[in-house]
Formats: sequence, C-alpha cells, structure tokens
Amino acid sequence: MSDTPVADIKMSARGLSVHYGDKLALKGVDLDMAAGEVTALIGPSGCGKSTFLRCLNRMNDTIPTARVSGRVILDGEDVYGPGGIDPVLLRARVGMVFQRPNPFPKSIYDNVAFGPRLHGLYAEGEELDTVVRSSLEKAGLWNEVKDRLIEKGTSLSGGQQQRLCIARAIAVSPEIILMDEPCSALDPIATAKVEELIDELSQSFTIVIVTHSMQQAARVSQRTAFFHLGDIVEVGATEQIFTNPANPLTQGYITGRFG
Ligand SMILES: Nc1ncnc2c1ncn2[C@@H]1O[C@H](COP(=O)(O)OP(=O)(O)O)[C@@H](O)[C@H]1O
Ligand SMILES: [Mg+2]
Repeated sequence: MSDTPVADIKMSARGLSVHYGDKLALKGVDLDMAAGEVTALIGPSGCGKSTFLRCLNRMNDTIPTARVSGRVILDGEDVYGPGGIDPVLLRARVGMVFQRPNPFPKSIYDNVAFGPRLHGLYAEGEELDTVVRSSLEKAGLWNEVKDRLIEKGTSLSGGQQQRLCIARAIAVSPEIILMDEPCSALDPIATAKVEELIDELSQSFTIVIVTHSMQQAARVSQRTAFFHLGDIVEVGATEQIFTNPANPLTQGYITGRFG
C-alpha cells in the first residue's frame, strides 16, 4: 500500500471490519480523509465501498445483520467508542447523499428545512428561509426553484432532485459529506453539474465519494483509495493512482482489465 502523508486529517478509519451475518464484507481497513479534500473510493462492484462509507456515519447501524468492529475517528473522537457520538448528531455532522435521488414527498422548501427543523437549529420564518435559500444556492439550484418552493421535491428532474438532496444535506452545516455514486442515475449534463458542485463544495466541506467512474474520480478527487474484495489495496494522490499505480490490481482495474 503506497501512501502520501495527509496534512489535516478530518476523519480516519482504523482496522475497520464489517460482517453481514457470517460474511466478512470489510476486512480491517485503514484510511485517512483530509479536511477540505475530496477522497474518492473506487473498485469493482461488491468490494465494500458502500459498506465502508456507511460506517462513517453509522448508517450500518440500521442494517440488522451488520456488525462493525474497529475504529472511525472524527476530530480525534471514536464514533463507535463507549460514550461515542450519538448517531443522530453524528449524521448531522457527517451528511450523506445516495445513489438514487431520494427527496421526501414534501415541498422543495420542506425538504431543505427538514434537517434544521429536526435539530431545532433555526426559528421558523425569516431565519429558516435564509438557510433554505443559502443551502439551495450552495447546491446550485436556487435560480431553478426559487419561484416554486412549495412544489413537491419529486416534481423536479433527476439532476435537480439530486442537487435538492445535496441542499438538504448542506442545510444542517455538516463537516463531511458522503456521496455514494451520486451521479449513477443522472444523465451526462446533470452529472457535469453535480461534479462542478462537488468541486465548489470541497472548499467548505470534507467530501468522500464512491464512484464507479474512474473519469469522475480523476476529475473530482485529490486522493483515491482502491478497494478490492473488502480491502483497501492502494491509496494515494489521485494523479499517482491513475498514472502510476503501485499495485498490479490497481493497474488492472484502471486499465479496464477487470471491474
Ligand atoms: N445489507 C447487506 N446484507 C448482506 N450483505 C450485504 C449487504 N450490503 C452489502 N452486502 C455484501 O457486502 C459486500 C460489499 O458490498 P458493498 O459494500 O455494497 O460493495 P460496493 O459498494 O463496493 O459495490 C458484497 O458482497 C455485498 O453483497
Ligand atoms: Mg455500492
């Protein structure tokens, strides 16, 4: 495993393993994710990328057969430790955007206001309006929806729905945003918009993105981790991984020999 030192570590995994029943899906992986960077997770289908990502905000807690061991450290604190972070608060700090846009069957406004209301962050009215607007602006959606905030989120196009989900994630001011193949259900134009957005968001948030598109990983990330059969085989600067991978498995994957 080749690696370059990470300057400012926001989150790290140490010896992180996940079983689903008897099946070992993640085999004790280590990874550092730097503040203000985009970390891309790549690798063949079924190699544990989503499983890893879901550990970072304890989404695996919601899968009855899943058992997590090892450590996930956020700003020096073990999120699975005794007296660890409350999962609901953790998910406000570590937001998530899924493969299929999943707006709630509520208005555009209420989708974005959902998290702030859940956590009682802002007063109804002007204060909440301001947060909804700025979240939609940051998600690059404001101009498209400002006159239709009371319409259902599900009435938007797929690409708009995904940006709405990003606005919803941003609205609680997370520190980290996890994205699991956020463009896989989008057309190329919507994908380009979301990729541009990821680049902008990386100024303010630490981002971890799973992608099956190596072009996407190369375009949006600064560091890339290559997963294979539940292990991280190689991690390093994105450019190095794509131009000069150290591991033959990585080489095979990026040149399309398997995957
Ligand atoms: N909820 C689940 N129950 C049982 N097995 C699962 C579950 N989710 C994933 N797995 C298994 O764990 C392994 C890793 O899956 P996953 O993390 O989804 O991989 P990836 O995201 O890289 O495609 C696969 O073998 C998959 O079948
Ligand atoms: Mg997956």
